[in-house]
Amino acid sequence: MKTHFSHDVLIIGSGAAGLTLALNLSSVGTIAVISKDRLKDGSTWYAQGGIAAVLDDLDSTDAHVKDTLSAGAGLCHEEAVRFTVENSADAINWLVEQGVSFTKNTDNQDFHLTKEGGHSHRRIIHSADATGKEVHSTLIDRIRNSDNIDIFEQHIAVDLIQQADQHKPRLRCSGAYIYNRAQDVVCTFDAKVVILATGGASKVYLYTSNPDGASGDGIAMAWRAGCRVANMEFNQFHPTCLYHPKAKTFLITEALRGEGAHLKLPSGERFMHLFDEREELAPRDIVARAIDHEIKRLGCDHLYLDISHKSEEFISSHFPTVKKQCLQYGIDITKEPIPIVPAAHYTCGGVMVNQYGATDLENLYAIGETSFTGLHGANRMASNSLLECIVYARSAAARIRQQLANIEPVSPPPPWDESKVTNSDEDVVISHNWDELRRFMWDYVGIVRTHKRLERAQHRVKLLQKEIAEYYSNYKVGNDLVELRNLVTVAQLIIRSAIERKESRGLHYSLDHPELGKITRDTILVPTNFAGQNVIVDQP
Ligand code: FAD
Ligand code: SIN
Repeated sequence: MKTHFSHDVLIIGSGAAGLTLALNLSSVGTIAVISKDRLKDGSTWYAQGGIAAVLDDLDSTDAHVKDTLSAGAGLCHEEAVRFTVENSADAINWLVEQGVSFTKNTDNQDFHLTKEGGHSHRRIIHSADATGKEVHSTLIDRIRNSDNIDIFEQHIAVDLIQQADQHKPRLRCSGAYIYNRAQDVVCTFDAKVVILATGGASKVYLYTSNPDGASGDGIAMAWRAGCRVANMEFNQFHPTCLYHPKAKTFLITEALRGEGAHLKLPSGERFMHLFDEREELAPRDIVARAIDHEIKRLGCDHLYLDISHKSEEFISSHFPTVKKQCLQYGIDITKEPIPIVPAAHYTCGGVMVNQYGATDLENLYAIGETSFTGLHGANRMASNSLLECIVYARSAAARIRQQLANIEPVSPPPPWDESKVTNSDEDVVISHNWDELRRFMWDYVGIVRTHKRLERAQHRVKLLQKEIAEYYSNYKVGNDLVELRNLVTVAQLIIRSAIERKESRGLHYSLDHPELGKITRDTILVPTNFAGQNVIVDQP
């Protein structure tokens, strides 16, 4: 069986970010796209609301920038915001060229633009309420029909490989060890350039809108390889996920509120006006906190989102996916309110990168939700994430295209060493630790935090880290062990960052420090083995 592979470019992750990069590089070299499950199994597929972009004559770059800065609560890096927004129309045009079909107005055939929290204009281009599926399936079709791109599904990256650079006094990234789940073997993949496009880490929380694979693998791998990470305390909780005892968390898109849905208490009263003058369309951190506050005040399990005052025809044409999904659980959204709760949704922090996605480790890039570009600040504005995936993937592709010819070939890395490990006979350790970790993260590091709870979480995460490290060094790797090892690393980074931030800002709310601090600064964590390329990231 072949266990060593060699490509020019190794892309780990097959969401919007990874596939956009692959398609933009396919003419310049050989490419491997690695996906730990099927190509479609990432957050991208599940995106509902759409993609924010300046597409309307009445809208402007300045307005989109201003809204993003305001939602980000003073921590966005203005240069990153401007760069993203200025490239938004090109990003959408590129998607249209790939064949993505966005919803159009029935009267004039212009793209229909919807509205979401924090946006002062209608600027969300979408495909009804299943934008991710439309974008992702189009990109997957294009990838499957591309020469030069080798696809490896059911392969999970375990760790990055580094080697000394002949001409520089530091290490560079030269590939990754990748576990082939079907064949139960760890392979070596070498490449001149490696890209982490592994998505976010919301699976670190018990309740999440994200699919199972969102275990922060790229962030953990980059951290272990010596890259800095930033702002990990800012986990975004989406205000409205379906609450149903039998449903795995399902998102109820913010576009419902954009089109007039009301948040309601069990009594049927509206309440958002008590928290923010923008009511249901306040930025997500404010809405999620308001819901959490009311749930705790009333001692109930959930609140409601109600769009039943709109016509059946309007609801069915704008929100067919939400309607169908809710009907499966006996909820007719055209006639009754939808039970909702907040759930972990998006990782605003990540691996520090510059405008081209370059990390601290030479020849290692990070794009999409894995990365920290400075765009989102302390709270991502709705629908800016897919935009960031496309804009930064294209920017990274342009830089890699320039560099590739000048990068020296890598020497074959040593094969994976399994001489000191055996098959595990106690998998229960993995499932137990997995549950424990996600539950205490939810209870102690959630929407509202206190110093005491964070310290409790820190104590527990240290014990778990030790136990998992011991397990990892004694037993053969498997998918669940790789993910658990990464989850515990990411949890530790989140808790450390939350403890360091002695104020309340955006998504980080502390009862011990309820005020906004005077100084705006990112929480930058530097690993002891810092790779030292020292990518310059502007400060907010
Ligand atoms: P993903 O799409 O998550 O892809 C990650 C890929 O990495 C997957 O292929 C996965 O298998 C692979 N992977 C991970 N780890 C490994 C590993 N170790 N080895 C190999 N492969 C690995 N954003 C918007 O802008 N608009 C929206 O409307 C919107 N709606 C959303 C709705 C839902 C329900 C969710 C969950 C998110 C939504 N978001 C939305 C956020 C947005 O979808 C994500 O931030 C974005 O899709 C992330 O894309 P990505 O390419 O970075 O990662
Ligand atoms: C949604 O449709 O509410 C999700 C949008 C986002 O996460 O950006």
